[in-house]
Amino acid sequence: MAKLAERTQRISGSSTQAVTTMVDRLRRSGVPVIDFGAGEPDFPTPEHVKAAGREAIDQNFTRYTPAPGIVELKRAICDRYRTDYGVEYKESEVIVTAGGKQALYNTALSLWGPGDEVITHAPYWPTLTEQIKLADATPVLARTHAEEGFAIRAQSILEAVTPRTRAIIVNSPCNPTGALVAESELRAIAEIAARQDLWIVVDLCYEKLIYDPVPHNPPAILAETCRDRTVLCGSASKAYAMTGWRCGWAIGPAPVIAAATEMKWVVTRAALRSAVRNVRLANRP
Ligand SMILES: Cc1ncc(COP(=O)(O)O)c(C=O)c1O
Repeated sequence: MAKLAERTQRISGSSTQAVTTMVDRLRRSGVPVIDFGAGEPDFPTPEHVKAAGREAIDQNFTRYTPAPGIVELKRAICDRYRTDYGVEYKESEVIVTAGGKQALYNTALSLWGPGDEVITHAPYWPTLTEQIKLADATPVLARTHAEEGFAIRAQSILEAVTPRTRAIIVNSPCNPTGALVAESELRAIAEIAARQDLWIVVDLCYEKLIYDPVPHNPPAILAETCRDRTVLCGSASKAYAMTGWRCGWAIGPAPVIAAATEMKWVVTRAALRSAVRNVRLANRP
């Protein structure tokens, strides 16, 4: 066989996928297993979401949509971030993607490349570092520690900064640790980013699964201090049990969203109208 592309050697196989495969094998051989691999909500897609999906198909809403997503959905996402976090974003600052994964990946392709380093905190969701590598940059890890509840510390991020650093990725709530970034630490991380001229990417995909009354408003803190260097990535997957529907978004400066849109245009154009309703209805108290 002729050789595969070099980039296929650069990325590691998905450990989450390996766990899922092992669980499947064990279950088939009769072993009762609780699967902590893929992050699936423990409730089904809500009825009103399923109904909206059926209605969209019945109305033949099954064709290409604009690459950055339909306007109504982008508006619904802006409305949700205004309600939840008090931040104002325009439609030109939002792209709808095939899940949070594509939001993060298109952001990665838009912000860094060969020779760049991107800092994230460890333990981490394995896709984050693989996406950094796939976009030709090098992941640099700032460790968090069990005895501190895996708190994300600005100091350890600062220690990881080099002249090649291009961006910092914060995942809060964090998969796998469950840690939420403290607002004071995020302010300090924002100061580092401003001083060193870095991007901050926040993976908020678990934002609706916070059970403690802890202040957690990364969008507002970053909007105050460094809106022009912040990209927020979110997803309907975990919040509304829509993991298989593939609906996510990135919110950030219009030029970044325009670049991410160009990338998406090349790869896919899907965006669900029914998701508009999901986001609106799920936001109701
Ligand atoms: C931390 C984190 N971010 C993003 C995602 C992406 O989720 P999706 O692409 O299903 O929206 C996941 C999925 O497991 C995740 O764990």
